Amino acid sequence: MTVAVSPAADWLQPQPLDTAYTLPAQCYVDEALAARERDAVFARSWQLVGFAAPLGRPGDHALAEIAGVPIVVVRGDDGVLRALHNVCRHRAGPVVTCDGRARTLTCKYHGWTYALDGRLLGAPDMGRVRDFDVAGVSLPQAQVAEWGGLVFAALAPQSAPFAALIEGIEAPPTLVFERRVVYDVACNWKVYVDNYLEGYHLAQVHPGLSAMLTSAAYETRLGAHWVLQTSPLAGTDDVYGPGTARYVWLWPNTMLNLLPARLQTNRVLPLDAQRCRVVFDYYYAPQAAAEFRAADMAFSDEVQREDIAICEAVQRGLACGSYVAGRLNPCHEQGVWLFHELLRAAYRSG
Ligand code: FES
Ligand SMILES: [Fe+2]
Repeated sequence: MTVAVSPAADWLQPQPLDTAYTLPAQCYVDEALAARERDAVFARSWQLVGFAAPLGRPGDHALAEIAGVPIVVVRGDDGVLRALHNVCRHRAGPVVTCDGRARTLTCKYHGWTYALDGRLLGAPDMGRVRDFDVAGVSLPQAQVAEWGGLVFAALAPQSAPFAALIEGIEAPPTLVFERRVVYDVACNWKVYVDNYLEGYHLAQVHPGLSAMLTSAAYETRLGAHWVLQTSPLAGTDDVYGPGTARYVWLWPNTMLNLLPARLQTNRVLPLDAQRCRVVFDYYYAPQAAAEFRAADMAFSDEVQREDIAICEAVQRGLACGSYVAGRLNPCHEQGVWLFHELLRAAYRSG
């Protein structure tokens, strides 16, 4: 077998943009690395877990999961939104099994009951158990943040504050949730993120989208842990008219796609080393017409299918043994470079 390009032997070390290679292909197929990413990437980063509108009143709660840990996001009697581990301290049963509203949270296994802030209030027939103190038991908490009507949570207490993640990015407008669409894709989650982080592929992969955007004015800005891609809309399109498309990526797997009157969020969730699930949530301005919503969702689906086809082909290329790593284009793939730099840092620390 001929290996076309070899990355530097110390591929884990930081690489200047001008001479950077992609991550080695092995990073996209290795189950051991996928397991390590759960701790080194997902358990230590901010994850989009839902939207705030249905969580407005005390007791409102919604299920989520971060790095395999079941979470319940719940509004307390004090108005504070919390992200509690949805794992009972008795024998690990589920405290909450569906979204809704409740005055207290009662475990579905033996009925231990928790307050909305996670403190254990009562445990049936445990009164005579030696050295058992209800007051000493509570559900662990993740960090939680609200931004532009969206809810984020971070499992590790030592994760950097959410404000540091989004510093320099304008908050998305708070729009109204319309629909969730879920795609399972036969590629490593990083292939999907890599693809998102560059507009280099637009002309080849997305003829329809390409015609809608002004590619000469396509811009990419990098933050410490975010990438913002913007393009003026050509304004010749019947669906969107004039305006600006803004594509925001937040480390490691959250995307916010903003067009006039519409926000679409994407979460890229690993299923295993070579498969991921991409969750699309659509939000619209209340005045957005039904025809606009339908046309927008149909067009997004078309673009998504184009991305899925190329990402799955890339995964086959990465897995086949023909390829090790390739050079990045510093003018068009600086977002991919930042993502890979952050991954290298996470792998070094994890
Ligand atoms: S596991 Fe929750 S009450 Fe037993
Ligand atoms: Fe694409």
